Amino acid sequence: MEQPTTREIPAVRRPDAQRAAVQRRDAFPYRFPRDNRPLGGKFSVAQNARLLLRFFYLERRLAQALGAWTLAIPEFEVKLETGRHLFYHADAAHALRQRLSEQEKTLAQIDAFRDAEIDQFIHELLSASDAAELLVGIHQVAGSALATAYRHHVDDTDPVTDVPTIRVLRRVLLDYEPMLAWADAALAAYVAGGIDESRLARWRWHLARLLASIGGVTGSDERCPAPAPLRSNERPFERSTRPQRDSRFVTFTNTGDYDAADGEPRFPSGSYENLRLRFLRTQRDEVDAIEAFGTFLWDIRFRDFEAEYHLARITWDEARHTEIGHRTLLAAGYDPFELPNRLTSSTCRGPMEPAYAMAEINLFGEVGVLKTIGSLIHEAAERHDDLLYHAADFIRADERTHVRKGRQIIRVMTDLGAQQLEQRTRELFTECLVSLGIVTRDMDVFTVSRDDIEFLVGE
Ligand SMILES: [Fe+2]
Ligand SMILES: [Fe+2]
Repeated sequence: MEQPTTREIPAVRRPDAQRAAVQRRDAFPYRFPRDNRPLGGKFSVAQNARLLLRFFYLERRLAQALGAWTLAIPEFEVKLETGRHLFYHADAAHALRQRLSEQEKTLAQIDAFRDAEIDQFIHELLSASDAAELLVGIHQVAGSALATAYRHHVDDTDPVTDVPTIRVLRRVLLDYEPMLAWADAALAAYVAGGIDESRLARWRWHLARLLASIGGVTGSDERCPAPAPLRSNERPFERSTRPQRDSRFVTFTNTGDYDAADGEPRFPSGSYENLRLRFLRTQRDEVDAIEAFGTFLWDIRFRDFEAEYHLARITWDEARHTEIGHRTLLAAGYDPFELPNRLTSSTCRGPMEPAYAMAEINLFGEVGVLKTIGSLIHEAAERHDDLLYHAADFIRADERTHVRKGRQIIRVMTDLGAQQLEQRTRELFTECLVSLGIVTRDMDVFTVSRDDIEFLVGE
């Protein structure tokens, strides 16, 4: 059978006009840089959109997946980076979604996209037996395959007609390069510290085969048979409810009050020095806020993309607050690990429904911070306490942003009115604080006040 061909249409040229154009061009004084990008590329808009939609979906799912593990990761540095990386994935999804909306897809279509094969791959990757295996799946299998696919797409698509896609993918790769390099270094550290390298290699091979069995991240590679058995078939993944810390930490849940936890207060109660240290410790202990917002992202997955995106960004901010806390404690003369870590809030929030846990950390915790941080900053300025001033100044700006975004997120999480939500949240936290032995009064007649919650499990 004869192949169909495109019939060439001859150009109708006029010699006078041609000569005149050459003359005008020669007389033109400026020799601007020549743009040599050729027309062409492998994809039509529909083919482009099919691939970008898969990339969007994988990025969205990776952000959710990292969120699901935030409680269960014990190692401090890994938990922090996970808080950052889940935003990198959500931000990639956000940029791809925007580009897709310019490639004949509506936001509603993009947000409703699901892929059962990718879901199975994600559930298997989530079934990691520890944080090291999680990093293998997220970064060394999924992340590295996506980075390769993005580089290929940049090379293969039309550099003129589709340059907005190229720009999106290049910017995503700017986040990917340090992220994947960090994951490799972290896995080397796990192995050097005694984690069995062959266990990780086996898991990497298993997940790589599973990904290959669905045609890779593009879905267009030749498929191989799926590996069996799958852990996620034997036991469906469930997120953990208990916050983990590594062995450098001493933790407490028997109180929410640092002075009570220390036994002997380090500074007189109510003094500036006391408030200052409490603030710095609270920031370092916002490692629990990474857990809270990351977990919400998983718990409300697919309900609303914007809410997921805000949660991812807040999770990264809380990872920064933790870093700020850790570094300011060092700069204030402490070994951050000599100061016991408050695990009270995360212990209560871990098993809780997202709307109530969110109400606690956002409506009580973050709103609570804004009530006191202004006077703390003011006093720091008067005392020329540059360290606290510098940290708190940025944190105040972040927390104001979180309170604003929180309103939108809560609307997605629950239909309850503000009063009902606050009341139920206080009841649930009272129950939890009683179970931890922090408050002991009779629950029938007693619900801890908003101020107590802000103090005991606030941020
Ligand atoms: Fe924070
Ligand atoms: Fe916050």
